[in-house]
Amino acid sequence: MDSQITVHGKRFVPYISEEEIEHKCFEIAAKINKDYEGQKPLFIAILNGSFVFAADLFRHISIDAEISFIKLASYKGTTSSGNVITAIGLDERVKDRHVIILEDILDTGRTLYQFLPELYNQNPLSLKIATLLTKPSARLFDVQPDYVGFEIPDKFVVGYGLDYDGLGRNIPAIYQLAE
Ligand code: XMP
Ligand code: MG
Repeated sequence: MDSQITVHGKRFVPYISEEEIEHKCFEIAAKINKDYEGQKPLFIAILNGSFVFAADLFRHISIDAEISFIKLASYKGTTSSGNVITAIGLDERVKDRHVIILEDILDTGRTLYQFLPELYNQNPLSLKIATLLTKPSARLFDVQPDYVGFEIPDKFVVGYGLDYDGLGRNIPAIYQLAE
């Protein structure tokens, strides 16, 4: 693994290697292959950050499965609870499907907490969350991931699809902001 890198003038140090990520994608996929045998799940990957994880994980899925990609857009002030998050690109195939959300990182949980009701409204048979990274100590909203790659501390990371202000998604490994 390379040594430290600079993104937008900030220093990042190596944190999770390509090999560790690859192994974890294989492990998560193996669990899903077992749990969903015969069920033809629908993966929904949330852009932009999850595109690299989704591509790697999905290639280890050996059961029949579909994948779709969505973007989330938030609108302020339309409800008393604040932002409403809605999907761009989601079609109605969610109904009566076993759905697995793919996320790059679960941080405060706000995004999924606000978005999941929209999915539940469309009556999936089941709904689970697979995330490569989770920051349990940063959680402010009650969202529990079902498949987790790595639990990490509340420190900013880039690489493997994750960006710092638009840059860094193409870095093959995960780097952590230096102290
Ligand atoms: P919430 O707080 O809604 O956040 O769970 C999820 C989204 O926030 C972004 N995020 C990060 N992006 N490094 C990043 O590059 C990080 O350490 C980080 N933490 C949160 C990310 O877009 C994620 O989908
Ligand atoms: Mg994201």
